Amino acid sequence: MSELVTFTIQDGVALIQVNNPPVNALSPGVPEGIEDAINQAESRPDAIAVVLSGAGRTFVAGADIHELELAAWGKGAGGPDLHGLLQRIEDCAKPVVMAIHGTALGGGLELAMAGHFRVAVKDALLGQPEVNLGIIPGAEGTQRLPRLVGVEKAIAMCVSGKPLKAQEALAAGLLDAIVEGDLVFDAAAFARERAKRGGPYAKTRERHDKLGSQQQNASLFAAGRETARKTRRNMLAPLKAVDAIEAAATLPFQEGCRRERKLFAECLESDQCKALIHAFFGERSVAKVPDVPKETRAFMVHKAAIIGAGTMGAGIAMACVNAGIPVLLKDSKQEALDSGMANIRRNYEISVSRGRFTPELAHQRIAMIHPQLDFADFDSADLVVEAVFEDLELKKRIFAEVDKVTKPECVLASNTSTLSIDEIASACSRARMVVGLHFFSPANVMRLIEIVRGQSTSKEVLATATGLAKRLSKVGVVVGNCAGFVGNRIMFPYMYEAQFLVEEGATPEQVDKTLTDWGMAMGIFAVDDMAGIDVAWRVRRELQHFSEPGVRRPLVADKLYELGRLGQKTGAGWYRYSEDRKAVPDPEILRLIRQTAAQAGIPQRPLTSQEILERSLYALINEGAHVLEEGFASRASDIDVIYINGYGFPAWRGGPMFYADTVGLRNIYGRIVEFHRQMGARWQPAPLLKRLAEQEKTFRAFDAERGMGAATVRS
Ligand code: 3HC
Ligand code: NAI
Repeated sequence: MSELVTFTIQDGVALIQVNNPPVNALSPGVPEGIEDAINQAESRPDAIAVVLSGAGRTFVAGADIHELELAAWGKGAGGPDLHGLLQRIEDCAKPVVMAIHGTALGGGLELAMAGHFRVAVKDALLGQPEVNLGIIPGAEGTQRLPRLVGVEKAIAMCVSGKPLKAQEALAAGLLDAIVEGDLVFDAAAFARERAKRGGPYAKTRERHDKLGSQQQNASLFAAGRETARKTRRNMLAPLKAVDAIEAAATLPFQEGCRRERKLFAECLESDQCKALIHAFFGERSVAKVPDVPKETRAFMVHKAAIIGAGTMGAGIAMACVNAGIPVLLKDSKQEALDSGMANIRRNYEISVSRGRFTPELAHQRIAMIHPQLDFADFDSADLVVEAVFEDLELKKRIFAEVDKVTKPECVLASNTSTLSIDEIASACSRARMVVGLHFFSPANVMRLIEIVRGQSTSKEVLATATGLAKRLSKVGVVVGNCAGFVGNRIMFPYMYEAQFLVEEGATPEQVDKTLTDWGMAMGIFAVDDMAGIDVAWRVRRELQHFSEPGVRRPLVADKLYELGRLGQKTGAGWYRYSEDRKAVPDPEILRLIRQTAAQAGIPQRPLTSQEILERSLYALINEGAHVLEEGFASRASDIDVIYINGYGFPAWRGGPMFYADTVGLRNIYGRIVEFHRQMGARWQPAPLLKRLAEQEKTFRAFDAERGMGAATVRS
């Protein structure tokens, strides 16, 4: 037997175990090993049944994504061809029981569905997340899944990519039993019992009872396509997954498999697949901080204290208790504390009403948050997160106080979005314990945290922060301490360029629509209104944007501020807002823009979508190249991860730097040089972009050459 798959016989049951850490992916050797083991199990007279399980932390988490990546870039075979293996398992004369713990995902679930029975522990997850990688299930999952759970559920699983919890999987017919004791032991007992009842054992591929009639299914496919278009806008794979499930319901099994294979290959060749696999590995590489070795000791976080019960403090408190970390929530004013707790309660009530939490669970979570006005018990906290107003003096005062009331090994974090972590750290005696934890709003929902490394932040504190992000189910990206850190720093040139476009003749809704049609979750004017026109105004002053002579400054945004049109919160900003916060274009704004432009002598002209996209996105990319070269981001892919998880950048375009690679850095550099010539200083090309363009290289290659590449394919 190969080392990747082990085989033993115990009490009449052949135990096959996949042992391919970390997640038992179906890498070369694993499918072959399983097939050998099945052959052996069938031929051994001392085994009456078979149990297949995964060693370590999980069952099988799918095909090896490294292999898929190679194939997507035309450098490999295209993932494992499991057809023969799955058929072999189904045809086994002895009952094959799949014993699932951890996750059975993608090819893992496809493998499990070829077994005659499936049992799982109660916290197992089963799903077809392939759409998140820009592909569809490619090992007959679109053919077997509807046979087990019905067409409607299969569509929902393959389009959303969301896994089912064991209990849901049992109810849907994907599992035969949930076991409470030792998984393999109980699965073996189950298998023995089935063997004693005798065969033949049901083959999933021969089942038709849940496939429904053409008439019943027509509306399901139409609804599935509608959901795919709405919830996974502009993505190819979810629609192709529906096509493949339709094939399952209308064609014989083998033909359906052929159709699936063809659709899978089409997805694998797409740019979306390359981009999404890039995003997958990018997300996994952020925790690998170049000079912080894996073995670095992290501080244990058993309790957190949060200062400031406003928008961010309340959200961070929820994120912590949702991860099982009890919280002391301190504010300086009773009304602010009450309002923060009321917001938290309201949030949990909404979750209960949507069926996400039971009332008991919501109650337990709220009870883990202790509201207070003083520093009582702060000496028991392992982490403090400061989330008071964005005011440097106030933050410094708080850090000086916190320094005195916490234990020396307590990590002190600030949620500042613009201020210098080093300045804040200078107020206390242990700058090495200070770090920025820049959560995004709403903090209990948004996945991104920028972990801001100050000049003295210790490696242990960074390891604690990256570990904490993971524990909170977030993506923590370590960034340097520059103005605006990485995300906001590169957002401002993008936002201002959009404003210049509007001053030259475009409208906010035209720019926003161009951006959302292209794939952004929100247009930049809608973002500005949501964050608050006053916030950007303050940033412009604090960060001294436009202090350099000769650099054009946006004119209308300041006028909005002066008019008190601060965005959603005042019912008007770039847009006017109805009761339900729907943005409505406002003729008054258009008048203001045109008047301002006329006064400033800015000529008006129609702007094309292409110019809107190039100018706004290339401004983002150029600043990204500056940030990368200056070392405030470790990798180009870190910028991609930040933009996908914090700024609504479409994951299927891979993030701004990956997108730049797909356009070609030479092309982008060429356009920026032209913009520089036409529009002056703000378009100064980033030296790194110039260098890479001249060398015909990509940002991915730049990451790889420095040993920072997240991916298998370097190009
Ligand atoms: N192939 C190769 N490597 C994988 C992998 C896979 N399917 N899944 C995870 N890994 C690697 C990660 O890159 C990471 O490597 P690293 O330590 O070198 O960075 C390591 O395993 C651990 O991964 P996570 O940090 O994500 O670990 P978690 O415990 O947080 O999560 C998980 C585990 C839920 C399994 C998560 O890794 C995950 O969602 N994996 C992807 C699952 C997936 O998409 N499966 C479908 C693959 S496509 C497919 O099967 C096609 C088929 O239809 C033919
Ligand atoms: P907020 O105004 O909603 O809340 C601030 C809270 O701090 C208020 O409840 C206030 O009473 C409290 N506070 C003020 N002084 C205090 C003191 N001395 N001791 C204890 N509590 C005190 O502000 P918000 O939006 O929550 O922002 C907080 C921090 O988070 C700021 O630094 C901001 O830049 C940052 N941030 C904000 C984001 C947002 O979208 N709102 C996003 C990311 C970071």
